[in-house]
Amino acid sequence: MKILVTGGAGFIGSCFVRLALQNASTEIVNIDKLTYAGNLENLASLADNPRYRFQKADLCDLDGLRQIFEETKPDAVVHFAAESHVDRSILSPQPVFETNLRGTFNLLESMRAKAVGRFIHVSTDEVYGSLDAPLEADENFPLQPSSPYSASKAGSDLLALGYFKTYKMPVMVTRASNNYGPYQFPEKLIPLMISNALEDKPLPVYGDGMQVRDWLYVEDHCRALLAILEKGRDGEIYNIGGNRSVANRWVIEQILAITGKPASLMTTVTDRPGHDRRYALSSAKLSKETGWSPQMDFERGLKMTVDWYRTHDQWVRDVKSGEYQSYYARNYDHRASELNQVRT
Ligand code: NAD
Ligand code: DAU
Repeated sequence: MKILVTGGAGFIGSCFVRLALQNASTEIVNIDKLTYAGNLENLASLADNPRYRFQKADLCDLDGLRQIFEETKPDAVVHFAAESHVDRSILSPQPVFETNLRGTFNLLESMRAKAVGRFIHVSTDEVYGSLDAPLEADENFPLQPSSPYSASKAGSDLLALGYFKTYKMPVMVTRASNNYGPYQFPEKLIPLMISNALEDKPLPVYGDGMQVRDWLYVEDHCRALLAILEKGRDGEIYNIGGNRSVANRWVIEQILAITGKPASLMTTVTDRPGHDRRYALSSAKLSKETGWSPQMDFERGLKMTVDWYRTHDQWVRDVKSGEYQSYYARNYDHRASELNQVRT
């Protein structure tokens, strides 16, 4: 099977590419714009793999995409490419609109013209918004996105499902919870806290730090996507959760314990605007239809992730050497000064 992957140079996409190629009959074409989040180093292990090909491409270029489909003729498309970070979407919503909405539209249009095989639109639990305990969202839960990022994902989910209903395109939508693991850009909670802790820098906790996220090891997510590609039903939505809902503050304390750093590194900063308090998902439908369940225990996965960042300090230095410093200042300086760096 030939799979066209979008955004395969990012965190989850690169894991998917590595995992999917373990099947000797799979071929991958990876198209990616290589934004700040896309990094070909994430796929360095595949340099000599004859079943893997990379092509630089921007989803906002409809003609370019049509050409790629003309040449590639994939059996399936797995669509990861997105502006994926909530804080950046709050600072600069425009690229989020362009890639997540227009880019997804362009992709669907290029596929419609070519009638290619299955399409997985990789989406997020954030589309359900914040849920009071003990609620868990199933796939029929109302959409209540809070940020430009989650609103763009909710919109693109509906667009993809609209192409199923109207044009009978074999579309499936997946909604995963918070991923963690190797190669995650150090703007997201876990890699940011690990890399700051390893450098003895402050760990910026938004608000009271009692927001709850459900943590999913990235390989578990990618195994779920492969199972859905094989056994999922067209036109369906599948939640993918890690079964491990915990407060941010607890996660940060675990990272401090694993890295052997003091709690005094934790620094309260002002909260994210529109910050969702709690996400929680039911993945019962996915487990029932494919037999999938998350395999990684969170404590073990977190230790492995800390080890990975410890042993990949050059990767961390490289990804932090681009526009990262200016993003970091834009996102954190005002938060820290607003609260006058109250140490917790
Ligand atoms: P990421 O930011 O690490 O990677 C995104 C990739 O998309 C990068 O390689 C980037 O270069 C590429 N890209 C961005 N704009 C593009 C464009 N216009 N054209 C082509 N390529 C472009 O993201 P991630 O964390 O790996 O997330 C992948 C997908 O999974 C996203 O759709 C995200 O919404 C979804 N998701 C992420 C999580 C999570 O916890 N990270 C959870 C659930 C769902
Ligand atoms: O739920 C799935 C989503 O998870 C994905 O769709 C997104 O692509 C992904 O970025 C992630 O979104 P979150 O906003 O939940 O992830 P983030 O790592 O940015 O933040 C996790 C929690 O940690 C959130 O409650 C905000 C908090 N946080 C985050 C950062 C970066 C902090 O307290 N301090 C920080 O510096």
